[in-house]
Amino acid sequence: MIPITRNSIDSKTITLRSGVPLANAYRTVYLNEEQVGCGNLILVNADHPVRKVEPRLAPVAGKLLMAAGKEEPDVALDTVSLAQLTALLDACGARKKIVVVSGYRSKDVQRMIFMDTLVKRGPAYTESYVALPGASEHQTGLAVDVGLASRRLHYIAPSFGEGSADAGRFKRLAPAYGFIQRYEEEKTPITGIACEPWHYRYVGYPHAAVMTDKNLCLEEYTAFLKKHAFASEHLIVEDGDRRFEIYYVEAAPGLTAVPVPNDKDAEWDVSGNNVDGFVVTASYRKEPRRHGR
Ligand code: DAL
Ligand code: ZN
Repeated sequence: MIPITRNSIDSKTITLRSGVPLANAYRTVYLNEEQVGCGNLILVNADHPVRKVEPRLAPVAGKLLMAAGKEEPDVALDTVSLAQLTALLDACGARKKIVVVSGYRSKDVQRMIFMDTLVKRGPAYTESYVALPGASEHQTGLAVDVGLASRRLHYIAPSFGEGSADAGRFKRLAPAYGFIQRYEEEKTPITGIACEPWHYRYVGYPHAAVMTDKNLCLEEYTAFLKKHAFASEHLIVEDGDRRFEIYYVEAAPGLTAVPVPNDKDAEWDVSGNNVDGFVVTASYRKEPRRHGR
């Protein structure tokens, strides 16, 4: 599969519509049930714990870290997420100002953090800010906690936001690089987690841009995409030079036949949703504009 990564800030100007399939022809790929739990779009929460994922991890280099804390001495992230995060930090001009505090955590590490926080801060705080072991996005390698380097950083709730221009720019540009702030205040009743300005989740472009445009958290976006099944109208997203086609395919017991574009110029990617199916994201280059006509 071809990963679609996109380093533009055109996400500010995306347009969305429902539309007919864009490819001239589709072919079939077959995916198994385990793959429902894999990919950039997996929904991970208390109702949908992490399944068997084998993240492709890359170490976060020292220059992106303030100081490797004792809580997480070897910070690592999913390879693509780290590349996109680095590009985002460069776009913000914030390489030394915004640092990575936490990345991939195993289930055992998440359990340790949960227990430790429980002892130190009690159940209300812990349940608000620490996902149950097995239900943390950090176990996928797709989630990153960031903080402002100038502050003394707390491991569970690092300082980020609060009127900082760097944090504001990071949040504004994040969707173009495939990231969303996962836990917003107004979505707490849905996510079950308190507002976390520091916790970003990689879902990929253009999904992060669509979620931001429509003000949907991942729980809501997962449900929204199900309305765009392959057999019905697809979600069409356009930016300056690309047209994206997004559709949902329900998982079948055993193998699922997933239609993907067969057009030569189409790039596509499939992700499980960690609930009940797959999401196909296809990308087509628009015809170059002709000048003087
Ligand atoms: N802080 C988030 C909710 C986690 O522990 O995954
Ligand atoms: Zn986090």
